[in-house]
Amino acid sequence: MTSGGDAPGMNAAIRSVVRTCAYYSTECVGIYRGYQGMIEGDFVTMTARSVNNIIQKGGTILKSARSKEFMTAEGRKKACDNLKEHDIDGLVVIGGDGSFTGGVVFNKEHNFPVIGIPGTIDNDIFGTSHTLGYDTALNTAMDAIDKIRDTASSHNRLFFVEVMGRDAGFIALNTGVGAGAEEILIPEEDLGLDRMLESLKKSRRSGKSSSIVVVAEGDKSGRNVYQLAEYVEENMPEYEVRVSVLGHMQRGGSPTCFDRVLASRLGVKAVELLIDGKSNLMVGLKNDKVSTTDLEKAIKGQCEIDMELLRVSDIMTT
Ligand code: F6P
Repeated sequence: MTSGGDAPGMNAAIRSVVRTCAYYSTECVGIYRGYQGMIEGDFVTMTARSVNNIIQKGGTILKSARSKEFMTAEGRKKACDNLKEHDIDGLVVIGGDGSFTGGVVFNKEHNFPVIGIPGTIDNDIFGTSHTLGYDTALNTAMDAIDKIRDTASSHNRLFFVEVMGRDAGFIALNTGVGAGAEEILIPEEDLGLDRMLESLKKSRRSGKSSSIVVVAEGDKSGRNVYQLAEYVEENMPEYEVRVSVLGHMQRGGSPTCFDRVLASRLGVKAVELLIDGKSNLMVGLKNDKVSTTDLEKAIKGQCEIDMELLRVSDIMTT
């Protein structure tokens, strides 16, 4: 099943799980709408042919949801009864930290085998260098910022571009560096408004006529992207300031080759682990090798932003 916010590459992961099951002559059942579909018994038997022609598609053919009912013990009991009724004896959850938290609780209560595949554009899961959808979202956001740069430089404007990332600055930092942003605001580091202003003034003095500031959705400056823009406009009247919030377009689109290959590798490993009788693990990528992490650690562990990249960004804005 896929659960939580959808991410490009989820279909490729479904395809991989289904085909690996077929390879090992293991029956595979898809669950629609994540935990909510599990509670409602919304299941479909899947064969290798059910996943033809989906590797390149964004979204998820199994649909996704954030289920409130699964947060209750009664909901989880209903879900477990449904799984047993359909002779299902192992679960692959493709999702982010909320979905994994549900999986851990479900396993503790019902001793049901669960393997997680990290799928979220935010890349905020411990135990993997990349989550499914992150690479695609980076390229989508970077492409959008490149286009904004065209209009920014034509009008000598300063643009604040908000990218997704509720609690993490991975998308902001990497697209910021990739698109040559003058400033990048992320939740992991509070740059401070004065420093941002000083840096923008410095860029202006050095001859730049337009600027881009990339702001992560979860930035901790205490002001939203519109308030930030207002603040700069008040203090730098020489700039015409505009705001662009990229929003959910970052979650859509055909997955990159990287995400498709990652999904294929992780799906194989997830099924093989279940067949080997393993549970409570997340499959991920470490130093380009498929590896496993305790599911609980994947949720609770601290995934660190690359401080070296922040330094590179500072040098690049000279
Ligand atoms: O977790 C992925 C994510 O896209 C976040 O970056 C964003 O804050 C959130 O989901 C948006 O959730 P929803 O689609 O429910 O508004």
